[in-house]
Amino acid sequence: MILQRDYDLSAHNTFRMKVKCACYVEYSSVEELAGLDWDSLPRPVKHIGEGSNLLFTKDFPGTILHSGIRYVKYFDVGLDEVPVAVGAGVRWDDLVAQLCGHGLWGAENLSHIPGEVGAAAVQNIGAYGVEIKDIISGVTCFDLVERKSCKFTVAECRYGYRESMFKESGDRYVITSVLLRVSRKPRPRLEYKGLAGVDASSPSSVRDAVVEIRKGKLPEPSELGSAGSFFKNPVISAADFVRVCDAAPGVTVPHFVLDGGMIKVPAAWLIDQCGFKGEREGGAAVYKKQPLVIVNASGSASPQDVLELERRIVATVHERFGVALHPEVEHL
Ligand code: EPU
Repeated sequence: MILQRDYDLSAHNTFRMKVKCACYVEYSSVEELAGLDWDSLPRPVKHIGEGSNLLFTKDFPGTILHSGIRYVKYFDVGLDEVPVAVGAGVRWDDLVAQLCGHGLWGAENLSHIPGEVGAAAVQNIGAYGVEIKDIISGVTCFDLVERKSCKFTVAECRYGYRESMFKESGDRYVITSVLLRVSRKPRPRLEYKGLAGVDASSPSSVRDAVVEIRKGKLPEPSELGSAGSFFKNPVISAADFVRVCDAAPGVTVPHFVLDGGMIKVPAAWLIDQCGFKGEREGGAAVYKKQPLVIVNASGSASPQDVLELERRIVATVHERFGVALHPEVEHL
């Protein structure tokens, strides 16, 4: 177990904000987590994964917890569906590479997404027509209120678009492991337009195509700090959609009609239309290839730079289109 006071978090957030926390704890088993001297830890307590969907807006006055539980266990019972139990601290993309290498289907569309397994299950990460909920069968947690382990079925996790019961519970539950169900039988998911016609002979060939697409659109975390998509894609009513169309005369507004008639409009398009591509604020900037992403362009952007850019984008999109953008990235 690692327990350090006044700890630099630069290496624990992919935005690379230079912030500190009062205390940092990395544990390597559920027993270590349960055995912590909770009353001595500075409050509040916040659990993080790789910090790939976080914006630290200032130094954190409490305790940052991080999982070092890193195992992958296959329950190979000879069925088409293979249960796989994974520790929350495993890097998500290392797991995807491993599953694809074993010829197991289900996670390949979620290739090259930064972050760790526990956080992926909190956020219900999604890309190219697949969300992690599609392959989760259950989640094991440590309940910070009752201070004991508990289990949830996927239904109990109440997953939605980048939403879950874990997010709603206000950090009550620390995910310690996730039970996935992946398939030995081919089940390629190629509905996303960019994947049409790719080589789907194996999960690895689909993975290669997804990695290629992501590399072309999104900044490489090792080269440029960011937290992926900064905003959620807004879901609006048909009446509000008409207003968006009216505000962009002569342009076809990209959109997806959801079950129930609500309409999802790409935030990237709204931000692009407002001319924000490449826009800078101090050391922060809107990524040129994908305006849904805010990057730490100078390498030394401050949280205030990012927050000011966010404020300007939200205000401009609202003024022009009447649509409220909400951050996908968690602000701490
Ligand atoms: N667009 C523009 N200008 C641009 C780029 C995109 O107008 O410069 C418009 C286009 O109409 C394009 C549309 O935005 O068709 C959607 O773009 P894209 O397919 O790249 O997807 P996205 O909506 O921007 C979402 C997820 C991504 C995920 C991709 C692929 C959210 C918030 N983001 O992005 O997830 O990889 O779909 O499925 O839902 C993340 O969560 O961090 C993330 C990267």
